[in-house]
Amino acid sequence: DAGHYDTGGYEHYLLKEISEQPETITRTMSGRLDERFHVAHLGGLNMDARETRSFRRVKIIGCGSAYYSGQIGAQLIEELARIPSDAEPASEFRYRNPVVDPDTLYVAISQSGETYDTLAAVQELKRKGGRVIGIVNAVGSAIAREVDGGIYLHAGPEVSVASTKAFTSTTVAFALLALHLGRVRDLSPADGRRIVEGLRRLPGHVEEILAQGDKIAELARKYADHAGMMFVGRVRGYPVAREGAQKLKEISYVHAEAYPASELKHGPLALIGPEMPTVAIVPDDELLDKNLTTLGEIRARGGRVLMVGHREPGSKLADDVIVIPKNEIELDPLLLTIPLQLLAYHAAVALSRDVDKPRNLAKSVTVE
Ligand code: AGP
Repeated sequence: DAGHYDTGGYEHYLLKEISEQPETITRTMSGRLDERFHVAHLGGLNMDARETRSFRRVKIIGCGSAYYSGQIGAQLIEELARIPSDAEPASEFRYRNPVVDPDTLYVAISQSGETYDTLAAVQELKRKGGRVIGIVNAVGSAIAREVDGGIYLHAGPEVSVASTKAFTSTTVAFALLALHLGRVRDLSPADGRRIVEGLRRLPGHVEEILAQGDKIAELARKYADHAGMMFVGRVRGYPVAREGAQKLKEISYVHAEAYPASELKHGPLALIGPEMPTVAIVPDDELLDKNLTTLGEIRARGGRVLMVGHREPGSKLADDVIVIPKNEIELDPLLLTIPLQLLAYHAAVALSRDVDKPRNLAKSVTVE
């Protein structure tokens, strides 16, 4: 309900919600970070210490952008808590008669808490005795009521159909969950502290990216002029690429494909040429050199490259670069997503789209 919530001087809800992220991610972590023991306090999980230690797998479900944020979450939990984790679209999970395992922690993600496919998946899990927690924004929503416990995002109402602040707050919630699960396993106090401090720096880093809005708007006008765009990233960058492509598609109607950069040569490289630019997610992580090689391969085929990362790789490898601040590598996906939100937003504005209410889409899909 947008009734009591206006655009606050912004031209669109979407730009307001993108701009609010320094505050919304602060709210998601507020009161939950412990600076002394480098743990996260998540009382809403309703889980005692013995149970917290007992899970041997984590399975994450959600739809659309919620699912992509779940992919980021699965990587955070594997990296920090060393529990095998994966994400799957809730809409697929509920139809395939999945094995429901008592040693698995199920996590349902939903901004609205009303997405029917996600709700039906939660109900199926509960029927079969699964332990399900929610990462939900809307307090008291159907999914929030159905789960055994969870983490509320406290991101405030998200009005624009395209999810932005709920996506980044979900990523923060997963970092908290990973810290929580990790610190009762083998995540060291030093690494716990590194993540806690990294989380604290995020709002300021988001501000720094938002301050590049004019530059990103200019890039959006330059690249929106194409029939299609490729988004690539590896490992932590891959769900970011998927989310970036999703944002561009849903609000600008420009066709976008997202692939792991490692998969390009197995097929989609055939699409690359001057008419199909690539947005490449290239953080300064252990895959930097591999990613830079991929950029060279794209450029060798006449493809234009817009790189999002931590450094300028030189004009031979990228036509344009959006440089973001360096935080802890596990938290890179959150910061890498912000420029892609702005890119999609400004592309949609440049193409005179109905930014907050794109055609054919509803804010929450409460039917099958
Ligand atoms: C996001 O930009 C989309 N509009 C859509 O994918 C959305 O994330 C999905 O429908 C899930 O919604 P929920 O988080 O309210 O369950």
